[in-house]
Amino acid sequence: MIKNILITGGARRVGAHCARYLHAQGHNILLHYRNSKNAAQELADELSCKRKGSVHLLQADLLDIVALQTLADEAVHRWGGVDVLINNASAFYATPIKQEITEKQWDDLMGSNLKAPFFLSKKLAATLEQRNGCIINMVDIHAERGLHNYPVYSIAKAGLVSLTKILAKELAPKIRVNAIAPGAILWPEQDKMSELEKQEIQAKVALQKTGSPQDIAQAMHYLMANAPYMTGQVLSIDGGRTLFS
Ligand SMILES: NC(=O)c1ccc[n+]([C@@H]2O[C@H](COP(=O)([O-])OP(=O)(O)OC[C@H]3O[C@@H](n4cnc5c(N)ncnc54)[C@H](OP(=O)(O)O)[C@@H]3O)[C@@H](O)[C@H]2O)c1
Repeated sequence: MIKNILITGGARRVGAHCARYLHAQGHNILLHYRNSKNAAQELADELSCKRKGSVHLLQADLLDIVALQTLADEAVHRWGGVDVLINNASAFYATPIKQEITEKQWDDLMGSNLKAPFFLSKKLAATLEQRNGCIINMVDIHAERGLHNYPVYSIAKAGLVSLTKILAKELAPKIRVNAIAPGAILWPEQDKMSELEKQEIQAKVALQKTGSPQDIAQAMHYLMANAPYMTGQVLSIDGGRTLFS
């Protein structure tokens, strides 16, 4: 059955790959973006060529609660309902504890990674319930123990893990809520890493390599289509990174 999937931050990188993959499985994509208008339009054009009318673009800054409400309303009205909400959008940058951390940074990291997923889930709960839908939250293996120099991001992702478990109870039995915790999939764009830093991370991965967005997309598809008895769980896709300290 064709599902209507809302993916936030889906214009580029992991989100774009997942949108492409889920679209290829026959589903409709509500593609949300904030600043990446050109990339979002290119992806929408590419997918629409394959199936006309199967992609709809939605722009919003998820830190803006009014824009978030409009986004949820538009998503529901486009095709009459939403079956899957994928909370993928995320701000990611270092906030070392010994340096100044501004309230703006706190609000940005907490807002995109935690507050927006909470309010989007709440606003879409009625449509998701009607359609026996599901929510998939993109968390991080570092939600559990924290990534050094990234305390605010790590706290936000830990909150998102907690949100996953709490909403799995609150929204049951009609809506399933699960999370994916990626390890090293794509290197960050904003906080550039040296080759040595990358090698050091890879050395701590049991499978001795980074993952690919395809690994994440397949896990997403599994959670939405093949895991009807699974809720409140976090699926780590990390090549065994969490086996090491
Ligand atoms: N990449 C990895 O290896 C990795 C590892 C662990 C966890 N993850 C998680 O997996 C997900 C995808 O990762 P990624 O690396 O592809 O993400 P990303 O490129 O860092 O960010 C995805 C998108 O989030 C959007 N975004 C950020 N702040 C926003 C806001 N205030 N309002 C609306 N949109 C906002 C941006 O959209 P625009 O460009 O349109 O502005 C951005 O393109 C994230 O949740 C990330 O935390 C990824």
